Amino acid sequence: MMNLSKKYRTLSRFLVASCLFSIGALSASARVTHPTGVTGRADTIVISTSHTMLVLGTEHGHLRQWYLGSNRSGKIVYSKALDDVPGIPGQSLPAYSTFGTDNLFTAAIRTTHTDGNPSLDLVYQGRQEIKKSDDITETLISLKDPQYPFFVILHYEAYRNEDVIRQWATIRHLETAPLTLYNFASANLNFHAKNYWLTQFHGDWAAEMQMQETRLSAGIKILDSKLGSRADMFQNPSFLLSLDTASTETTGEVLAGTLAWSGNFQLLFEVDNAGELRLHAGMNPYGSEYSLAPDSTFTTPAFLFTYSASGKGQASRNLERWARKYGVLDADKPRMVLLNNWEATYFDFDENKLVHLFDEAKEIGVDLFLLDDGWFANKYPRNSDNAGLGDWQENGKKLPQGIGYLTAEAAKRNVKFGIWVEPEMVNPKSELYERHPEWILRLPNRPESYYRNQLVLDLSNPAVQDFVFGVIDGLMKRYPSIAYFKWDCNRMFTDAYSSHLQLIGSPQSELPIEYVRGLYKVFARLRAGYPHLPVMLCSGGGGRVDYGALPYFTEFWPSDNTNPLNRVFIQWGYSYFFPAIATCAHVTGSGDYPLKFKMDVAMMGKMGFDMQFNKLKPEELRFVKDGIRTYKSIEDIVWQGDLYRLLSPYEGNLASLSYVSEDKKRVLLFNYLVTDASVQTAVPLQGLDPVKRYRVEEINLPAATKSSSPETGHVFTGAELMRTGIHISLKKDLRSAVFLLREE
Ligand code: GLA
Repeated sequence: MMNLSKKYRTLSRFLVASCLFSIGALSASARVTHPTGVTGRADTIVISTSHTMLVLGTEHGHLRQWYLGSNRSGKIVYSKALDDVPGIPGQSLPAYSTFGTDNLFTAAIRTTHTDGNPSLDLVYQGRQEIKKSDDITETLISLKDPQYPFFVILHYEAYRNEDVIRQWATIRHLETAPLTLYNFASANLNFHAKNYWLTQFHGDWAAEMQMQETRLSAGIKILDSKLGSRADMFQNPSFLLSLDTASTETTGEVLAGTLAWSGNFQLLFEVDNAGELRLHAGMNPYGSEYSLAPDSTFTTPAFLFTYSASGKGQASRNLERWARKYGVLDADKPRMVLLNNWEATYFDFDENKLVHLFDEAKEIGVDLFLLDDGWFANKYPRNSDNAGLGDWQENGKKLPQGIGYLTAEAAKRNVKFGIWVEPEMVNPKSELYERHPEWILRLPNRPESYYRNQLVLDLSNPAVQDFVFGVIDGLMKRYPSIAYFKWDCNRMFTDAYSSHLQLIGSPQSELPIEYVRGLYKVFARLRAGYPHLPVMLCSGGGGRVDYGALPYFTEFWPSDNTNPLNRVFIQWGYSYFFPAIATCAHVTGSGDYPLKFKMDVAMMGKMGFDMQFNKLKPEELRFVKDGIRTYKSIEDIVWQGDLYRLLSPYEGNLASLSYVSEDKKRVLLFNYLVTDASVQTAVPLQGLDPVKRYRVEEINLPAATKSSSPETGHVFTGAELMRTGIHISLKKDLRSAVFLLREE
């Protein structure tokens, strides 16, 4: 719609609109008194949470960043001492840098005006503070080019209790023709430290979220994605930035940042000539020039960040508290333990086999059965990944009585029923492909190129959005008792071209952005229609794990790699930014490891199963059943507790982490051996109440196995447990140990 209307705006509309534009409504307020006691001039802007403060100010009309750091007595992160803020505006860097005037480094924003002038100068106009709740205050700062009707509003939403700031920009102009935006960062933050240590979360299919930490050298380092739909496959849009020295879990200054965007992103770190670091976070401008019509608003996605003066652990806890309240759908509500048939059957099933799996699900005590890929398509049956995608009708051969029969059979067993869809994609061997070739992203004059034998549908096209929404809506209308969906997306963009954008006269470079906007429109419709339907976010594993998508999803599938040893590392990586309640962790047949190890690894997240239980020995089956009961008795600590990473699998033989309930009355300690060494060591805890007395118990032990920990059965104060720790003894055939500590 917006693109069509671009062409037809008239000058008179610009003039009317120019009187109304929101920037005029923002006031340049008088002397500011901040609750923390910081008093500043009218142009000193303090954005703060309980422990963090971002101070901006104007110099010669330009918005500068003066300070980012602890809001009380913390060290100055940027070069301006807080005490000096009201007085002398000294050395500082732009809060949102522009191209073409005096900026010698990367610009947060760049455009060329209708008269060909390539420069942008943004001058402070005013600001407004909106108290959205006891927790949330949004500060809007308006900027304008003195020579052109070109406006930017910077939005800073501060979450006081969670110590998180969400920052984004809205861009608008009233020039006489569309302007091309070349750069459009969500945030541009500056740092002044001796050294900068960047931790990135890199990977690939089945190897997501591998941590790498490097010291930034002079020049530019970019973390980005150009993959379009499955954007996070090689790199998650999240990072940790330590200042001065590499931070640990408990020490050092660190900023944790993540971009809430499910498409191409760019996180750019530029260490300049003076050793200052300029960070730009936003949608990837690479190949994404965007034509902005007069009087249309371009809204960037939000960049979320939290600052910790006491290491990475606190940064994760901040973000995850925020996520449980605001970033993941219904994260205050319980989740279901599920049995998925993917690794149990792959495409090889029929309704009898499925009903038999329902029996197993009931017998074992899981809440929900999730039917994966392979249930649909008739002309080109979905018996492998090379056919049927797009044809969302039950396959008559496998499911002669349809999904209604399956939901009824599951209900008889008191098991809920969920189903897999991949509605954004199409196989060339499908009826959808035959019917709607114009819905497919492909180049008009080059051969099609396939990845996993499939192509991507053009979500910039509203007709495709209707179709994609209709896949879920249609299933729900026909089978309202479906209790869960898994939404998959197994292909990135290659050879992408939208005939819809061509038709409406928009440049192809807008496709990466318009695709994601179309996707979010569908997600929003899904949630308008089915506000609390649990949906797992999956993208061939973790190809789309970000806070753009997660507010619409209850959980995500971190990786198709379910080998428990690999999962320790993968889940460890996600744990820096994403809460355990959303992190699906399934026990499967993958990896030659003890069942206990597999169960213990799954228990650190949202536990589920993907296996044939009939292949288990009776004692293993008993162990699984007991394990599910155990998990259900402690799941609230995993889901709602504060995470403390204690020993990193990247640094030794052992990974240890714990969850501490908010009232500090219950604590879970997970330990995993990640090499074949035998390890005997003490693991000191963190985050306990030093004066509370905790009884230590080892849980999820196979029958007749005694805990080897001398602390088991005894009571210690929190102070003792944090000082001395719990002694564990692990070896190749007993690779994990889980402890529950309860206040006496
Ligand atoms: C992707 C998902 C898997 C499974 C398959 C089905 O790879 O990540 O969990 O659903 O698709 O084809």
